[in-house]
Amino acid sequence: MQLREPEAHEVTLFHRGILLNTRMATKKMGLASWRNQPLGIAILRLWLGGTWVYGGWAKASDSAFLSKSGPNSFSGQLTSYIGHSPLTFILRHMLEHATLFAWFVMLSEFAIGIAVLSGVAMQLAIIGGFSVSIILWLSVTFHVHPYFLGSDLAFAASWLALFYLWRAHERSGNRGRSTLIGDLIPHLKDRREVVGLMSVAAGAVIASLAGRSFRPKQKANAAIVKVADFPIGSTMPFTANDGNPAILFRTNAGVFAYSAICTHQGCTVAYDGLSHSMNCPCHGAKFDAASGAVLAGPAPIPLPKISVSIAGDHIIQA
Ligand code: FES
Repeated sequence: MQLREPEAHEVTLFHRGILLNTRMATKKMGLASWRNQPLGIAILRLWLGGTWVYGGWAKASDSAFLSKSGPNSFSGQLTSYIGHSPLTFILRHMLEHATLFAWFVMLSEFAIGIAVLSGVAMQLAIIGGFSVSIILWLSVTFHVHPYFLGSDLAFAASWLALFYLWRAHERSGNRGRSTLIGDLIPHLKDRREVVGLMSVAAGAVIASLAGRSFRPKQKANAAIVKVADFPIGSTMPFTANDGNPAILFRTNAGVFAYSAICTHQGCTVAYDGLSHSMNCPCHGAKFDAASGAVLAGPAPIPLPKISVSIAGDHIIQA
C-alpha cells in the first residue's frame, strides 16, 4: 500500500480532534471539573470526598490504627466485628494479614476522596466509595437499630445518588454517547488520564505518610492532675498519652481510667453520674463505670483500661 501525504484540511481536522479530546479530558479533571456542574453534585462531591479524605487522615494520624494489636488497631477492630457480622468468614481471613489490609483501607480512603474531589476517574472512585460503605455496613453497622442510626448505609445511598447524577451530567456533556463499561475503565491511552490516576495514587501515599508524621508523641508518666485537686468520688476527662480521650476515676478502691473511645465506631463516650455509666452519644452504647463492661447498645467489647497510679502529689499515666 502506498502512503500519501495528508491534505492540509486533513491535518487541520486531526489537530482539531486532538484539541477537542484534550479539552474534554481537561473539562473532567481538577478545578475545571467543579465548573458547570449541578449544585447537587457539588454538594455530594464535597461531602463524600471530604469525608473520605478525613477518614484516611484519622487513620494515618492514629498511632494505634496500624499497630499489630490493641483495641483501637485495625486487627482489634476486625476481631470485635467477628461473630457479629455476616462477613465473619471474610473478616477472619483478613485478620491473618491485618496490617496489610489496614494500609490498603487507609490508602483507598485517601485515593477515593482525592479522586472525587479532583474529578479523576470519578465513576470508578464513586463505585469504590459505594463498595467500601457496603462492606462497612455488613461488617460494622449491620446490627444497628433502627437502621438509620448506622452511618454506612446512609453513605452507600449517597454514593449511589452521586453515581447516577454524575452519569447523567457526563451524558449531557457527551451527547449520550457514553457506555457504562467505557466510562468505568479509565482511558489508559489518554496521557492526561494516566497522569491524573498517578497523581491520585501519589496523593494518597503522600497524605498517608504526612498523617503518620502528625501522630501525637507518646509522653511517658505524664501527670494528669494533682491528688489534692481530685478527691475520692471524683471523675474527669483527660487526654491519654497517645493523644486520645480518656476518663479518670478516683474511688475508695484507688484510681483507675478507661479509654473514652467507644468500641463500636469510635465516638467519644461521656460519664453519666446518675446511671454511673459511660454513655456513647452516637448509637446508645453504655459501659459500666466500675469495670468498663458493655451494659447496652451495639458496642461489641468493653472500654479498654488505661494504666494510672498515684506518684507523689500527682496522678500519672504509667
Ligand atoms: S460509636 Fe456507635 S455506640 Fe458508640
